[in-house]
Amino acid sequence: MMLHIPGVLSREEVATMRAEIDAADWIDGRATVGTQGALVKRNRQLPEDSPVATAQGDIVLRALRANATFFRAALPAAYMPPLFNRYAKANEESYGLHVDGSLRGVPGSPKWLRTDISSTLFLSEPDAYDGGELVVVDTYGEHRVKLPAGDMILYPATSLHRVEPVTRGERVCSFFWTQSLIRDDAQRTILFELDQAIDSLRQRLGESAETVSLASQYHNLLRMWSEP
Ligand code: NI
Repeated sequence: MMLHIPGVLSREEVATMRAEIDAADWIDGRATVGTQGALVKRNRQLPEDSPVATAQGDIVLRALRANATFFRAALPAAYMPPLFNRYAKANEESYGLHVDGSLRGVPGSPKWLRTDISSTLFLSEPDAYDGGELVVVDTYGEHRVKLPAGDMILYPATSLHRVEPVTRGERVCSFFWTQSLIRDDAQRTILFELDQAIDSLRQRLGESAETVSLASQYHNLLRMWSEP
């Protein structure tokens, strides 16, 4: 499932975040990829251990904890700390077709996080740059994504994806991975759609014997499939 979540951050929150991260020191984005990614990745990132990245990443996670749509879609078990990247016209920075690594070491811990869901939070307005679309490839074809600043796209981390070359201006984003309570994207999609349908029925018709029954089926599926 690919899901566009609007307004994760307000315009003002994006502007404050941009002022903080734009003033920080950026490094070659190849610092966080394996050998396959290094061949196709041409961008810059904030260092993973940079205090600015840590502080701003916490703001992103705080906003997500308050976002009911993100919670229902991702059913998060754990997050990697958000990272920040930028692609500029100089050198037409881009990130060729790749898949994100399936496991990532949790910083400061011997634990691993399974990357079930990839998320990109846009921190540049679409008219600030040309190119720079996130292209996600699945069995239905290619999906091109370019969202207003403050909006997020969530997609299965199993997908091949790329970022098109930036040919004008600069594209700044935050991105991170979530391990979900529900490992399988198809099961996660069923739960999300069932949850949305129950919610919509409740709003239209109020609580009823049917919505109680459907909610119990939702929770029974969640109990059957979740891996807390
Ligand atoms: Ni990627």
